[in-house]
Amino acid sequence: MTTMESLIGLVNRIQRACTVLGDYGGGTGDNAFNSLWEALPTVAVVGGQSSGKSSVLESIVGRDFLPRGSGIVTRRPLVLQLHKTEEGTEEYAEFLHLPKNQFTDFALVRKEIQDETDRITGKSKQISPVPIHLSIFSPNVVNLTLVDLPGLTKVAVEGQPETIVEDIESMVRTYVDKPNCIILAISPANQDIATSDAIKLAKEVDPTGERTFGVLTKLDLMDKGTNALDVLEGRSYRLQHPWVGIVNRSQADINRNADMMLARRKEREYFDTSPDYGHLASKMGSEYLAKLLSKHLESVIRSRIPSILSLINKSIEELERELDKMGRPVAVDAGAQLYTILEMCRAFDKVFKEHLD
Ligand code: GDP
Ligand code: NA
Ligand code: MG
Repeated sequence: MTTMESLIGLVNRIQRACTVLGDYGGGTGDNAFNSLWEALPTVAVVGGQSSGKSSVLESIVGRDFLPRGSGIVTRRPLVLQLHKTEEGTEEYAEFLHLPKNQFTDFALVRKEIQDETDRITGKSKQISPVPIHLSIFSPNVVNLTLVDLPGLTKVAVEGQPETIVEDIESMVRTYVDKPNCIILAISPANQDIATSDAIKLAKEVDPTGERTFGVLTKLDLMDKGTNALDVLEGRSYRLQHPWVGIVNRSQADINRNADMMLARRKEREYFDTSPDYGHLASKMGSEYLAKLLSKHLESVIRSRIPSILSLINKSIEELERELDKMGRPVAVDAGAQLYTILEMCRAFDKVFKEHLD
């Protein structure tokens, strides 16, 4: 593992620790850990309903585990942390709300996301801003924190409150408004880019395009005789980062349970043999997108080390005060948890300082 990889891994673990602590603190919002969480970069997946957001996330992870389909499927934010583990170790997933269950069957992960969504929203098509936190530990992922969000929409459907359109938009905004949020703006290639909800929002919150990655899905669904070169080559809408084209699984693929690795191979083949995109093939596809994001994250984290470090130190002080209040040695669970996190922070502090030298 390179030092930079391990650095992102550390940041990932701090974020996880922050989440746990945020929960412990009852989400009061005003502690150093929350500021620390906000200082660390996350990637939010943004786009219109059924533009392919959940599919892109799954491709990045390389596993089937998200509910997908037509209509509003994602109804609560899903904060997904990917932790790269040693080669040869078994892949598993863990929910923050079920800390004792290690899921190795990813079909059950999907079911739990659905059940946990319903637990808060009821079985209706309501939405909730309360996030679900999921961690995936795997040798096949890059260290990243990604947030899957409900799709932007223009009209409420049967059974939804009229306010749902604005509710979804303001939920998405709480993520993308943060200057540390990297926006994965998903637009389907079979719709005019000028009508893209993702680009519209990204343009507004990130006018210089420095934290927006444009992703064009459904290239395979474009009308015969047309192509997306104007978008992919940056002529339709210029961003600072290059656009990435994607071919996810179709609904038919999903229905017949087409396997993810097969889908990746098919995607690769699509670009390698495409008369339109052949010259861009090495910079297209979900695997490339994952690497691009990870590389960007590295450079962002590197530039933020000093401020992250000072927030970590604040967190350490806060934790120490908290522990003093409880009196040491701490027997209660919460205290033990704080203590573990404090130890983790001290370790981070040391590693970050080494990176500064
Ligand atoms: P979300 O609502 O933005 O999260 O979109 P989903 O990932 O749930 O996808 C919506 C539908 O579009 C599903 O039926 C997917 O199979 C399909 N889909 C997504 N991306 C692609 C693609 O690149 N090609 C094809 N053919 N279908 C896609
Ligand atoms: Na959908
Ligand atoms: Mg979705």
